[in-house]
Amino acid sequence: MENPPAFPSSFEWGVGASGFQTEGSLQAGGRGRSVWDDFCAEPGRIAGGDTPATAADFYHRYAEDVGLVGDLGADVYRFSVAWPRIVPTGSGEINKAGLDFYDRVVDEMCAAGLKPAPTLYHWDTPSPLEEAGGWMNRDTALRFGEYAAVVAERLADRAAYWIPLNEPVVLTFLGYALGQFAPGKAMMFDSLPTVHHQLLAHGLSVQAIRAAGGSGIGTANPHAPNWPASDATADVEAAELSSTLNNWLWSDPILRGAYPEGWADAMPGPVEDDLKVISSPLDFYGVNYYSPSRISAPTGEASAINGYELSADIPFTVLEPEGPTTGLGGEINPDGLREILVTLTERYGDALPPLVITENGTSQQPGTEEPGDDGKVHDDGRISYLDSHIRAVRRAIDDGADVRGYWVWSPTDNFEWTHGYTQRFGLVHVDYETLKRTPKDSYAWFQQLIASQ
Ligand code: NOJ
Repeated sequence: MENPPAFPSSFEWGVGASGFQTEGSLQAGGRGRSVWDDFCAEPGRIAGGDTPATAADFYHRYAEDVGLVGDLGADVYRFSVAWPRIVPTGSGEINKAGLDFYDRVVDEMCAAGLKPAPTLYHWDTPSPLEEAGGWMNRDTALRFGEYAAVVAERLADRAAYWIPLNEPVVLTFLGYALGQFAPGKAMMFDSLPTVHHQLLAHGLSVQAIRAAGGSGIGTANPHAPNWPASDATADVEAAELSSTLNNWLWSDPILRGAYPEGWADAMPGPVEDDLKVISSPLDFYGVNYYSPSRISAPTGEASAINGYELSADIPFTVLEPEGPTTGLGGEINPDGLREILVTLTERYGDALPPLVITENGTSQQPGTEEPGDDGKVHDDGRISYLDSHIRAVRRAIDDGADVRGYWVWSPTDNFEWTHGYTQRFGLVHVDYETLKRTPKDSYAWFQQLIASQ
């Protein structure tokens, strides 16, 4: 393989994971239930009936995982704080044991020379809040702001970066519009209030973190090009609508303080004052990228994205990927990453803070990532995916995008939502029987890449 491209010396390399996907110990230390606990308990929701009860056992093994990431030579470790560990019922009493746990995690990261980057919400809404309506309620955003303040007061002295909400678009579409993720609601466009309330939660928590003395505040929004199937007007318009719903509905309010034209009226208003909160200044804009989307006018057929079925009723159709695909069936197309970084740079100009790739990575075909007779995991597909996307980031920088960091999803294998343990994203293999960690070839490759910079 060619030598990796050189990045500026200040460029930061990192990894990222989330609480529900890695921690396990869902009843330990006073944690309350979350909507994902409830969803996973419904028969047939998770592939193979896999349970998140132990996951990668990060709750007990965080020191080992932090050590592995420290040895990698990385700069940043992104993890998520589980809301129900801090506020077990979503409002009211604070659970000190939960705060103490993340305090220890953060100390461990600092001791390993890593910059802690907590995400405050990675989809694990406390069950009582969901039972009261979840993100359909404005109140959920207010409760989130209070929870953010509590965590920020505890961790702001050591956290280097903050991500208020992870991929709110995925929660709205898969969780509330299409029913593929918790809370399993299939409300289609009636789910639009969850857009505004999550954005408001973002803004309120940015203000709370700042007020507690925190800095390095950003996002982790998934962005990707939506390429029309042809030049035909119907395809172009369908791709624009898909791009608005997946990209600009989320970034315009944050970066421009306005909804894309025509969408403010669909939100629970009045929205003007909220938009001022939503557009509170950020220190970086985090982009999660996996695959581009190819879009046509609605064909009337159900389609799929990353293994998730999309109803035939949505006003566009997601087409089959072209060329090689990831384990989840997404198109492997690094130039989509370059393109979206340049598009964001052009669309927002001076209003765009520095960019960070807060997630990029891949699973391979299920069953192909077990240690061989030599005890090693030869994950060449992951190496080539990461290598090509890192080169795409370099090209984006050359094309004018101000990208300051690249964080691989994920340090270890973990619970890939409804795919359970069938999809492995780690640089480090986890044996789910013994919980033994085995660094894959990609771990050594990434270690060398970081050392070469
Ligand atoms: C996005 C999500 O933030 C994360 O939870 C998930 O595991 C990865 N993408 C991979 O699908």
